[in-house]
Amino acid sequence: MAEKTKATNITWHHADITKADRERLNGHKAVTLWFTGLSGSGKSTLAHAVENTLFERGCRTYVLDGDNIRHGLNKDLGFSPDDREENIRRIGEVARLFTEAGVITLTAFISPYRADRDKARNIADEGTFFEIYVKCDLAICEERDPKGLYKKARAGEIPEFTGVSAPYEEPESAEIVVDTGVQSLEECAAAVVATLEERGIVPMAN
Ligand code: ADX
Repeated sequence: MAEKTKATNITWHHADITKADRERLNGHKAVTLWFTGLSGSGKSTLAHAVENTLFERGCRTYVLDGDNIRHGLNKDLGFSPDDREENIRRIGEVARLFTEAGVITLTAFISPYRADRDKARNIADEGTFFEIYVKCDLAICEERDPKGLYKKARAGEIPEFTGVSAPYEEPESAEIVVDTGVQSLEECAAAVVATLEERGIVPMAN
């Protein structure tokens, strides 16, 4: 979809306040934490658990969540490959803006296509994009089925359902991999926060 800039006669206006200024004010770096995985893998739950920990430590955070964004900004999009691509393109841009604004931005979208995730990564500043593969066996996601969608998909009531009748391309070089079928929520959240500490994104906990 919208690959090229349609408008002409537009120029970039540079702000006086930079991302570095905002990071200094906030006391932490601003990055995008891109959670990807099957429906029911626990992306949103984990993103919110990480946000809770960071917020308690005084970090500026925001979670962009697939189901929520599809009620507003992306309400015109469905689940065809083209619509998913556009969904992820917009979220990549929004995540870039939030990150530029100094916020630790957590996104929780299935984002099933590697190429679309890579585009979101490629528009981010070097070192500010962390792909977090929220791994979980399809059988476990299906057993959890928190929204009853797998049941419907198996019954043929939802076309192009990820993992059932639409593909999920596993990350090949995610910065962080957790397995919610094996690890507890606390363990997964701690692994993410520990990586942020090690990379100097947030200060070490006291
Ligand atoms: S994405 O593939 O474009 O990244 P996104 O994360 O925004 O998907 O939305 C996924 C959520 O939409 C799922 O958690 C589920 O609740 C719902 N959903 C509805 N239809 C589908 C479908 N065909 N495939 C996957 N998820 C669907």
